[in-house]
Amino acid sequence: MKALILSGGKGTRLRPLTFTLAKQLIPVANRPILGYVLDQVASAGIKEAGVIIAPETGQYVKDYVRDGSEWGMAVEYILQEPLGLAHAVKQARPFLGRSNFIMCLGDNLQGKGVTDLIKRFEKEKLDCLILLKEVPDPQRFGIAVLDAKGEVIKLIEKPKEPPTNLAVVGTYVFSPKVHLAVDRIKPSWRNELEITDAIQEMVNMGFKVKAEVLDSWWLDTGKKDDILTANQIILDQYLKGEVLGTIEESEIKGSVRVVPGARVTKSKIQGPCIIGKGAVVENSFVGPYTSIGEGSQVINSGIENCILLEFSMVKDVAHLEDSLLGKHSLISKNGKGRSVRAHIGDYSEVEV
Ligand code: TTP
Repeated sequence: MKALILSGGKGTRLRPLTFTLAKQLIPVANRPILGYVLDQVASAGIKEAGVIIAPETGQYVKDYVRDGSEWGMAVEYILQEPLGLAHAVKQARPFLGRSNFIMCLGDNLQGKGVTDLIKRFEKEKLDCLILLKEVPDPQRFGIAVLDAKGEVIKLIEKPKEPPTNLAVVGTYVFSPKVHLAVDRIKPSWRNELEITDAIQEMVNMGFKVKAEVLDSWWLDTGKKDDILTANQIILDQYLKGEVLGTIEESEIKGSVRVVPGARVTKSKIQGPCIIGKGAVVENSFVGPYTSIGEGSQVINSGIENCILLEFSMVKDVAHLEDSLLGKHSLISKNGKGRSVRAHIGDYSEVEV
């Protein structure tokens, strides 16, 4: 079993962050989302991973994953123009050979891991096993229709009138028969080779396609609020509260990780929160579900449910919430007036 990790794509919905960062590298709890995906793949015992990268952001992914030794895996990079998930499978053929493989989206996280899925795929000698999740808004997703035995009979992309509420989650296991199906499909209206079309083709060709319904959380971190939700879940489930930095005249409550080299002065921190290396919190309140990146500063301010990427700064702002700040960005209040002054990059969003 090999792994194919999709870390290409355009990331248009996360601009401007994705102008200078691959979206799979946006940190939750101060660690790239892709790191958690690789953890899950590695803990299933997989030793060989192909990582799909896009021309614009591929170097950022390479700089993070390097040779894969952090995860005990040998990593091969596969450059791909973002022409769809099935196109990525096609590009990866030289790497995949005749192997079975698990395919994961580098910006999707789910709470179950991949070990059981792989075991079931192998035990039942399947050609495709997909993961599904019951969702309240199936119109937004690829949806599966199953028969009484749990076999997939139909996949429909973003249906107006969804026949089920079972969304296709970004984790799939395939036998090499998927390549036969990929060769038979045509690009969709958005000019992409869709993986849902390839799976539908596998069903049409009579291959064994089954599904499993996920009984844990699933996060597709395509947009800002999804990333804030991922940050909440990871802080809740994985954060090891530990104060290793410097704390002066401050109150720390709940699960809070202050890494070495961080400094908290005259402040109140209410976890779960993480405060990164070299970060400074001064005369401020930091509320639950906040991740403060390396070298960032929060001065005379109150923040809650925020992600501050590296070297960003919040100064003299009474209350900032539900926000995602890019690297080296600054939010400050100047004087007593009510006016807002801004210097923001392309595709930025500000709510006042
Ligand atoms: P999407 O979020 O569907 O696509 P995108 O990255 O182009 O984002 P946006 O819609 O905001 O422009 O992609 C899901 C995952 O698969 C994501 O991690 C990127 C990756 N991907 C590839 O590696 N190759 C591709 O051709 C596509 C479309 C996505």
